[in-house]
Amino acid sequence: MDSILVRGNGPLKGQIPIAGAKNACLTLMPATLLTDEPLTLTNAPRLSDIKTMSELLASLGTEVASLQDGQVLALGTKEISNHTADYDIVRKMRASILVLGPMLARDGEAVVSLPGGCAIGARPVDLHLKGLEALGAVLELKDGYVHATAPGGLKGAQFEFPFVSVGATENILMAATLAKGTTVLKNAAREPEIVDLAECLRKMGAEIGGEGTSTITIQGVEQLHGATHPVVTDRIELGTYMLAPAITGGEVELLGGRRSLLGAFCNKLEAAGVEVEETSAGLKVAQKNSRIRAVDVVTEPYPGFPTDLQAQMMALLCTADGTSVLEETIFENRFMHAPELMRMGADIDVHGGTATVTGVDRLKGAPVMATDLRASVSLILAGLAAEGETVVSRVYHLDRGYEHVVGKLSACGASIERIRG
Ligand code: EPZ
Repeated sequence: MDSILVRGNGPLKGQIPIAGAKNACLTLMPATLLTDEPLTLTNAPRLSDIKTMSELLASLGTEVASLQDGQVLALGTKEISNHTADYDIVRKMRASILVLGPMLARDGEAVVSLPGGCAIGARPVDLHLKGLEALGAVLELKDGYVHATAPGGLKGAQFEFPFVSVGATENILMAATLAKGTTVLKNAAREPEIVDLAECLRKMGAEIGGEGTSTITIQGVEQLHGATHPVVTDRIELGTYMLAPAITGGEVELLGGRRSLLGAFCNKLEAAGVEVEETSAGLKVAQKNSRIRAVDVVTEPYPGFPTDLQAQMMALLCTADGTSVLEETIFENRFMHAPELMRMGADIDVHGGTATVTGVDRLKGAPVMATDLRASVSLILAGLAAEGETVVSRVYHLDRGYEHVVGKLSACGASIERIRG
């Protein structure tokens, strides 16, 4: 298994291009199942999760062509020749559950393995299932698989999510586009990836309103047609790289970044003393003070502070002047980066969903282990600021959500390399 070697090398300076959003692409790709016409996604990120979704769709009968070095995905599902999403693929990537709604909407049948848990939590899919049942689906759980049918097709309905779920909102939104009648989703997720999905579905002929608010209304149509759609900028990659100059000092321009994607996060960075400025090309981030100020963080559904940036923010706060309290309200086990940061000299006290971080003058490089996607990059950020060498192992986690990390950071002066293992 490969690892990443990082040496603390002083302030960063330069530009980092931000790719298309993994979490938008993973919900846009299954939309191909809703139509027999071609769906082309541009600005697609080159990530292992995208390859996994391509494999899954191909196993269902989708033709997938990856063009222009992976930045364009040409998808075509003339017919769904296999309605079963196998456990082997689903267990590798939980977003596989997003083929359930579209398959059901198109053909009235789908068999999808339950995804199982993952490092950051149990991550049940009960809201996906309840939402589809509200649209008239008949679900049966057998041998770890959801057997779903929609005799006579799905029917529009009103459904209120008991709490916000990004994936469940995406699944039901896609299914509702071909349901008979009107669907109203209440307490829907408001993430930019949901807005991006709605915009793509509308280009395909869907009738959708309210995306980005808590109430989304969908008027079902007979069928959808093909479209070409650019994947929205990855706000989590953006926030991750904004933290690089914040933790090392210096100044970096994030190309393609927009403050509107990360309002709460930018406000928190500024409260910590980091300068964030919109430019014509993106967002410029500078940290000129000797120390970061401590700030408290509570993760929330959009437009709150993103849970996917909690681990990375913790790395920054490990070097702050003072004590910060981070509350993780979305996932039950998303502090696994804390013990690894403590190996680097961080002072962190974890109790349940709350981590209290007391900043130290300087972190010390050490061998550490990536436990999940966002934890892996949190450790790299810490390594950029630490004294000496940090070796992050199990970087296959990193490859799921970040392309060319070594290239992007070394272009700004970081001392970082990938060691083939
Ligand atoms: C999406 O996961 C993202 N993944 C996650 O990003 C992100 O952390 C999460 O949304 C929250 O923003 C993709 O988009 C592929 P949820 P999702 O449904 O849809 C519970 C990353 O690092 N829940 O909003 O799975 C769930 O366990 C990944 O890129 C149920 O209980 O998240 C969690 O505690 C990690 N039942 C909470 O709700 C359900 O049916 C929010 O989950 C669904 C979810």
